[in-house]
Amino acid sequence: MNARFEPSGPLRGTLRVAPDKSISHRAAIIAAMASEPVRISGYLDAADTNSTLSAVRELGAIVERRDDEVVIRGIGLRAAQAPPRPIDVGNAGTLMRLLPGWLAGQPGETFTLDGDESIRRRPVDRIAAPLRLMGAAVQARDDRFPPFTVTGGPLTGIAYELPVASAQVKSCVLLAGLMTPDTTVLEPVPSRDHTERMLHRAGAAIRREVGSGESWRTTVGSADELEMDPLEVPGDVSSAAFLITAGVLVAGSRLVLRRVGLNWTRTGFIRILERMGGIVLADLEPPGSFAAEEPVADVDVRYGPIEATTVEAEEVPLAIDELPLVALLGCFADGETVVRGAAELRVKESDRITTVVEGLRGLGADIEAADDGFCVRGTGGLRGGRLAARGDHRLALLGAVAGLASREGVEVEGIEAAAVSYPGFAADVARLTS
Ligand code: S3P
Repeated sequence: MNARFEPSGPLRGTLRVAPDKSISHRAAIIAAMASEPVRISGYLDAADTNSTLSAVRELGAIVERRDDEVVIRGIGLRAAQAPPRPIDVGNAGTLMRLLPGWLAGQPGETFTLDGDESIRRRPVDRIAAPLRLMGAAVQARDDRFPPFTVTGGPLTGIAYELPVASAQVKSCVLLAGLMTPDTTVLEPVPSRDHTERMLHRAGAAIRREVGSGESWRTTVGSADELEMDPLEVPGDVSSAAFLITAGVLVAGSRLVLRRVGLNWTRTGFIRILERMGGIVLADLEPPGSFAAEEPVADVDVRYGPIEATTVEAEEVPLAIDELPLVALLGCFADGETVVRGAAELRVKESDRITTVVEGLRGLGADIEAADDGFCVRGTGGLRGGRLAARGDHRLALLGAVAGLASREGVEVEGIEAAAVSYPGFAADVARLTS
């Protein structure tokens, strides 16, 4: 399905963006592992997070969807049983990489996971390696891709240094670590820590410490059971980033996004944008913080001129999903914007270095790909044209925002991909421009 996004008049007003996708996935999985019912308000109603609800249901959890909350009656940490058919993760990479951490600790049970065409191109060897070291058996197509099976075993604790800065891999190991005496994950640079915070909230013995340089060390110990007080999912800062970018780029805009999750491990994009001179007022959590609760605050955005910047490798995990927007901002900024150390973009819902560079170039951008990032020369604006979403929700939304800020508008091919994380985007834009 195609959708056209015309050059927009000012975006003005206040709204709540879609709830956080990463936190919703974790809430459903950890609630399913819990022994008492968990009430989750503001659970994201989108394709990816609905796949997670279906998956935990297949494993035996009872999921009740009420008007404003989801109630999950869990199975307990060690009682998940393999469903008779493969667990369908749909398009959800986070579900595909987190859930096996729990499944690995169910001795004697074999679970099969599979998903859509795009998920079948995304690597799972990165979780297979630590899970095997812990004592589970993992078999994957070509030893790397879905479909794959996880056979649970009695697990032993490991100290695992992440070869890539990935919150998904870290989370997988930590979930498995709940069924070992002691498991440690070392991250060379920090990535989002929602799993750690939620496990802390659910009563797990978890410690997070700064290591040398930028590195972090997280240790989790064996848990008998998890329990969680009612939880509210904040607005998704990654979804907010699309409206923030539109607000900065569309002349005359001023908008306030309410109750956005501003965990410091997710706000790299806001920091980058502030450095570019974008006017974003938000009470950001100080880097290095760790608490059971997710910080929530309003984000106030205004239109204004921006300058080019360079994003280096250490910043990448804290802004990974927003880097396509940095490319778009770069088109409007004064100077040359460079993103480096971001090869991980190549294994997202699409190869986001190629798709972003080709997509924006098709709209008139002066942009070049590198192995691990891209370089954009700002020309003060963007012509517009057609952009194919290639089944990637963030590319569909990138095209939409590009259209709003462009001179001639953008036709997004495959706009339905946006439903994975932000089904209400077009309606939110209509509200802000009416
Ligand atoms: C996510 C982590 C990131 C991110 C993805 C969601 C998560 O992936 O790109 O959209 O919820 O843990 P990696 O951990 O693989 O970098």
